Parts: sequence; structure tokens; C-alpha cells
Amino acid sequence: MSDKLAINGGDPVRHTMLPYGRQDINQADIQSVVDVLKTDWLTTGPKVSEFESEFANVVGATEAVSVSSGTAALHASMHALNVGIGDEVILPAITFAATANCILYQGGTPVFADVDSTTLLLDINKLESKINSNTKAIVAVDYAGHPCDYDALRTLADQHNIALVADACHSLGGMFGERSVGSLADINAFSFHPVKAITCGEGGMITMADKLLAEKIRTFRNHGITTDHHHRSTKGEFHYDMAGLGFNYRLTDVQSALGINQIKRLSEFTKCRRTIAAQYNSMFEEHAVIDTLNVDSRVFHPYHLYVVKLRLENLKVDRDHIFAALRAENIGVNVHYLPVYLHSYYRALGYRLGSCPVAEKVYEQILSLPIFSTMTREDVEDVVAACNKVFSAYIK
Ligand SMILES: Cc1ncc(COP(=O)(O)O)c(C=O)c1O
Repeated sequence: MSDKLAINGGDPVRHTMLPYGRQDINQADIQSVVDVLKTDWLTTGPKVSEFESEFANVVGATEAVSVSSGTAALHASMHALNVGIGDEVILPAITFAATANCILYQGGTPVFADVDSTTLLLDINKLESKINSNTKAIVAVDYAGHPCDYDALRTLADQHNIALVADACHSLGGMFGERSVGSLADINAFSFHPVKAITCGEGGMITMADKLLAEKIRTFRNHGITTDHHHRSTKGEFHYDMAGLGFNYRLTDVQSALGINQIKRLSEFTKCRRTIAAQYNSMFEEHAVIDTLNVDSRVFHPYHLYVVKLRLENLKVDRDHIFAALRAENIGVNVHYLPVYLHSYYRALGYRLGSCPVAEKVYEQILSLPIFSTMTREDVEDVVAACNKVFSAYIK
């Protein structure tokens, strides 16, 4: 292999693009979808509740309500907590836009808090100063899959009598101490997008202990109607009442059938991701250009993402150039995420550069390397070879 970078016309490390994430679908997944297509229920049928109870069992929650996406899960969570005009909800600056958007959907105000530079999770020390009498909830994001410190967050939330929500869209399969993600916050929101721990194509789940909150969310996902189609069909009734304003956020039986099979495979998926992360960790130990993120010894990390920070002081080029050079080598690196308030929509709402300085600085350094359950040892070696090739060209 020549040292000439692919971005400069050299041969790439790989001939096909290695994506940063992708689904893992086996024959049993396919069969479960095919089987449901032959039944009477394509949506709001028995597979939906079966998936919900399987999911609740796996994460140790008493209630699980499925919805059509992780975004819908977060929106429904904000609705269930009665977030509305004048209410503030605190969230980390570094997350996917949906974590903040769901607060706006309800008329609430997102309050961005800075992150810890070593984990990119909410910095608990900076969080408390953001709490005031308008604060309704904290949405903690288990960035990259690393569960937040739910002991510290619980203490803070209880002290101030505010709700604790986990955006667990990255952390299915993770644990904090002996407790699984899904049982750690008052409300826990999951996504089943194809790059996530398990997939339904699109889909989401909300878990909680509170039965009333679960009922409220079941109504919200079904237009605000208090009974669903399956329930009425079983009882031979046609009357229904729309008691509030809701949405069509239902998950279908086709998606649930896939989810039921995928959740059975969760521990297999997590094991593969952790093996890949361990390979990266050992290859990047004491690296001149890469810092890996810290992992709290109390957590079991399912590694939805493998994020590294570049030591820009040792490089002649910036992160965007490294990104382009790695892409040219056919390594599908990605960046998670621009601090949400720097998107033009949020700037137009009045959010300003400089409000979360750690998040802004770290954003310039981060790169997500490929990680997904079907990646081979050779794929991992390609990523490391491409990184080393690119870094040696640009190291100071
Ligand atoms: C942290 C986080 N929150 C929320 C979401 C939204 O999930 P979905 O794409 O299923 O709507 C995502 C998905 O990318 C996410 O990464």
C-alpha cells in the first residue's frame, strides 16, 4: 500500500466504503416480518404489545410503550410531563437535534448545559446553576451509549423536585451499576433507527415505572384517543373518545415483529460492539493524535458510537480535513454532534456562540469511527491503518 493519501490521488486503504453504523438483519428477523405480513394485523395488533412486554423485561422496566421513532418517544415524554409554555428543560449541548426539538414542540424552552470534556456527557457540576423555578425536567443524554451518572442526577432532580428523563437513544444494552438503561430515569426514550443497538427500520420505545404516565403516552401516540383499534375490535365496540390532542405515533406490527426478534439478539450485538471498542482502545492507547473518551468504572458501555478526540495541537490540519482524508480512504467516519444551539434554527431563536465553551471546543476535535456488530477484525484494522496513514501525513 502506497503512503500517498487517497485525498491526494493515492490508492484508498479500502475499495468499498465502510459505514460508521449499520443494521444486522438475519434470517430469523426476515422470517418474523414475513410471518406477520400473512396475519390480519399489520398495525396496532398483538405484536405491538408482545414487543413492549419483551422490551420491558429486557430493560427491567414495569411499563414500555412503543412509538414510531426516538423523536416521538422524546416528544411523548415531554407531553407526559406537561412541559408547556414558560417551562424550561435542561439538556446537554452535544446531542442530536431531536432532544431539543421535542421541548420546542411542547412550547417549552430548551436550556443547554455544557458537557464534560472527557466523556461529552452533561457536566453535573455545571448543571445545578441552570436550575430555577421554571425548570420542569432534565433530559440526560447517554452520549455514544455511555450511561450518565444517574445517582448524581437523581439526587439533583429530587432536591429540586424536577423530572429526570433519559435520552437513551444511544444506550440500549447499557447499565449503570447493577441497573439497566431503561430503568434509570423517570422516563427513558429509545430509538430503533437502523444504526442503533436494535432496529425496526424506524421506531421508538418509552419505559417508565409510573402506570399513569404510560397510559397518558398510550393515548398521546394514538391521536389522544383513549382506546386503540385492537382493544375495540376485541370488545366488539365502535365508540371511542378523543380526550386530548395527540398524534399518530404508533409503531406497526410489521416493525414490532422485527423488534421482537432484534431484542432477543441485543446481548449478541452488544458483545460484538464491545469487542470492536476494545480492539480500538488497545490500538489507540497512548496515541500521539487520538484521545479516547473516558468510561466511568460503574457503567457497562454498549458502544453505540466509538468517538475519539483529535489532539489538534499535534496536527497540521483541522478535524474537517482529517474527516475528508479518512472518507477518501473509504472509512465512513462521522461527527456527532454540532452543539444543537449552533444550528441556524436555534441561532434564529436567540441562542448564541460561546454559551457552552467546552462543547464548542470539543466539537472541533471529535470524530466517530465505524462500529457495528457485523464489522470484522479486518474492518477494524482498515480503520486503524487509515487513521495511521492519514495522521502520519499530517502530524507536526
Ligand atoms: C441522542 C438521540 N436522540 C434522539 C434521536 C431521535 O431518534 P429517531 O431517529 O429514532 O427519531 C436520536 C437519533 O438519531 C439520537 O441519536
